[in-house]
Amino acid sequence: MMRAMSATSPKVIAIDGPAASGKSTVAKELAHRLKVTFISTGSMYRAVTWWVLESGVTPSDTEGVVELLESTEIRCGQENQIGTVAIGSSEVLGPEQLSATAVNDHVSTVAAIPEVRARLVAEQRRYAQESGIVMEGRDIGSVVFPDTPYKFFITASEEVRQARREAQGIMDKISERDQKDKSRKASPLVIPEDAIVIDTSELGIEQVVQRVLEEIEKIS
Ligand code: CDP
Repeated sequence: MMRAMSATSPKVIAIDGPAASGKSTVAKELAHRLKVTFISTGSMYRAVTWWVLESGVTPSDTEGVVELLESTEIRCGQENQIGTVAIGSSEVLGPEQLSATAVNDHVSTVAAIPEVRARLVAEQRRYAQESGIVMEGRDIGSVVFPDTPYKFFITASEEVRQARREAQGIMDKISERDQKDKSRKASPLVIPEDAIVIDTSELGIEQVVQRVLEEIEKIS
């Protein structure tokens, strides 16, 4: 089962799901085993949010955010097959910036802006032109790569998700974020019709990774 992707192997594995569902950990491990690049699109929305706050723009000021981004360079790259983001005058951002409480609090507001999404979706599609990828987010199977046959929706009960985030020692109002992500007009969080849904409430990471690998084998 542990094999690198060949020319006939999947190019894009899409992993979506709500906050703190474990999708990031699963996606990262999966990419590692398949020897492809791991991209967290949440990090890209987080990077933009960090820059908005850093620049003193109010996240709910849509015009202000759009205007700021027009004059901002966003550099999406990869290091050791893991996606990286640098924005404006910043270096590659790390967890200290991307998981800051203020970023958690405002990321769903910034991510609801269609112009922000269009800009980042273009970057996300560019990654797939370079190499095989496991990409995780909210709209990867529904909007970014609707044609990939490899679509997974990783979820868990709200209690389990809240507990997982707290165990990381991170302040994060995940139910508020989920509500915003599901109810926004632009690319809301939905379960793609053709996605394989995995509830991880009672599963460990390894079990979920195995399950996804089995499904990929079946589809391939
Ligand atoms: O930390 P967690 O896994 O819950 O979230 P994340 O994947 O880092 O995403 C942070 C936020 O970015 C989400 O709550 C969404 O508002 C936004 N996001 C999005 O709108 N679309 C994506 N493809 C990925 C993230």
